[in-house]
Amino acid sequence: MDGNGRWAKQRGRPRTAGHREGVKSVRAVVEESVRRGVETLTLFAFSSENWQRPRSEVNILMELFMSALRSEVRRLHKNEVRLRIIGARDAFPEKLQQRIAEAEALTANNRRLNLQVAANYGGRWDIVQATRRLIAEVQAGHLEPDAIDERIFAQHLSFPDLTEPDLFIRTGGEQRLSNFVLWQCAYAELYFTDALWPDFDEAAYGHALEEYSRRQRRFGRTGEQQAETLATVSSSYARG
Ligand code: IPE
Ligand code: MG
Repeated sequence: MDGNGRWAKQRGRPRTAGHREGVKSVRAVVEESVRRGVETLTLFAFSSENWQRPRSEVNILMELFMSALRSEVRRLHKNEVRLRIIGARDAFPEKLQQRIAEAEALTANNRRLNLQVAANYGGRWDIVQATRRLIAEVQAGHLEPDAIDERIFAQHLSFPDLTEPDLFIRTGGEQRLSNFVLWQCAYAELYFTDALWPDFDEAAYGHALEEYSRRQRRFGRTGEQQAETLATVSSSYARG
């Protein structure tokens, strides 16, 4: 979710006005995901590098996070959304951590949409914390180093029970991953748009999904092999 600051600047307003406006796009994209039957939506709200911003901006972002949790959680719950926060949450104010835990507990059994908010998240941090957990298991004698493969490694990342992202969307014109879910994005389709996050609405999101539906995902195979697999899958669907 990039471009809040520029959106505000274009209007001669403080950067924080852009963050506030961005909350509306969050609501729009979450609700559109529910309507379209998206399984999992991960929003990158605050990176581990964002602490380097001016203290006043960081404070406002924390307050916004708090107030959004307060105002949105009931609505999320009603829409059967399961909310989880991924990232090093211990760096957040105590009160915020508590509110996060309450929101997660309330929505834990919802199955319509998995909503993950990456906060104080960094892709490299995630890989490092997975490595730490693996080493602890090896030291405790529960795991043989030779048994560690990609599947087991992935099970130790921040959200092991979820499938890898199919589509990565970045708003705001920049074309980079900026330390987002690095391991999991190995085969994600990348989509970049110049739209600033506060301008990213249902239609813009629909546009990204349409473009995604036209991509051919080969996972290292040839186009012909992939077409064959799809034909097999759809004929077994047809047979029920
Ligand atoms: C939102 O956009 C990203 C957050 C950290 C909340 P920015 O704040 O990076 O906006 P720009 O890139 O300065 O326009
Ligand atoms: Mg930015």
